Amino acid sequence: MMLADHVLLDPYSDVSMVLRENEDKKIMVEIGFGNGEFLAFLADEHMDFVCFGIEVSKKCIQKASKKLKNKGEKVYLMLGDAKFLLRECFLDETIDHIYMNFPCPWPKTKHEKRRVTSGDFPDVLASVLKIGGIFEVVTDDENYAIEIKEIFSSHKIFDCLCHNLNEPRKISTKYERKWKKEGKTIHTLRFIKTQKSTTYRMIEEGNEVHAVIKINGLTRDVLSKIKGICGANGPSRWRFGDCFESSDRILLLEVAVSDGDFYQQIYFRLIPRKDDLLVKVDPAVKAFATPSVKGALEDLCGFLKSNSTLK
Ligand SMILES: C[S@@+](CC[C@H](N)C(=O)[O-])C[C@H]1O[C@@H](n2cnc3c(N)ncnc32)[C@H](O)[C@@H]1O
Repeated sequence: MMLADHVLLDPYSDVSMVLRENEDKKIMVEIGFGNGEFLAFLADEHMDFVCFGIEVSKKCIQKASKKLKNKGEKVYLMLGDAKFLLRECFLDETIDHIYMNFPCPWPKTKHEKRRVTSGDFPDVLASVLKIGGIFEVVTDDENYAIEIKEIFSSHKIFDCLCHNLNEPRKISTKYERKWKKEGKTIHTLRFIKTQKSTTYRMIEEGNEVHAVIKINGLTRDVLSKIKGICGANGPSRWRFGDCFESSDRILLLEVAVSDGDFYQQIYFRLIPRKDDLLVKVDPAVKAFATPSVKGALEDLCGFLKSNSTLK
């Protein structure tokens, strides 16, 4: 997708570059920006700031791109799960303000894992916010507001600054208008980070994953036997799928990988060279080098060694 005045980021490589280039500016993040009107409001409201918007929906990215056309290099969009992207792409103590406007409350108990606030989310915010940084959440759902208040108030790194009802705002988002029309009460909660904190990150060193193996004459028929084979290591899982061959004899192998609740569909590219075979993650899919990707690569290399002729 080509964007004119703002950018859809390649999260792993570009976020730290944007942060480095804007060290003197206020850094804000909006989680689940919907059609992007709150991001556009922030861009008009603030001068010295950079804002990252994180969304799981491609449709929202497209809608927001249109809204943000004339906002210059102040707003960057990231496609993916905010829980994962905040943790893996932002270093400790880098963000001043995190906004979440009308997160999906997922009220049923069996869906509670899908809430943005579930799992290690408070620990992630505790690490990426600067000391004095604010987490601000606005919701129409009273139970969700109470749950968020309990979770963050009992976290030793946060103090609850306020829980306001129907607080006047300069901006109203699409969902805010919808719920106000139905006469719902709007809850605004703010939490301040009070101490230094860090969290575990899955991707420790670079995002490059590859292997070189000394085997002869790998064919698509041999590789296709891996289809359906699964592997696991703790919360990381992988399953090999179909393989494809290009006209220049490069094989592509589809793999579904997951680390906890973070899923990726990746492809390994197997490139025959004069003396060996290079196996790497296909760069066309912006994959994260999570433990499941590394586990799948290790398994694939083991499979290739035992199913081909070694050099
Ligand atoms: C109810 S809508 C609110 C949209 C907008 N903030 C507003 O107030 O109109 C919730 C948004 O959060 C996004 N979302 C849900 N889970 C997410 C996650 N884990 N990471 C990023 N965005 C998420 C959804 O795609 C959706 O656009």
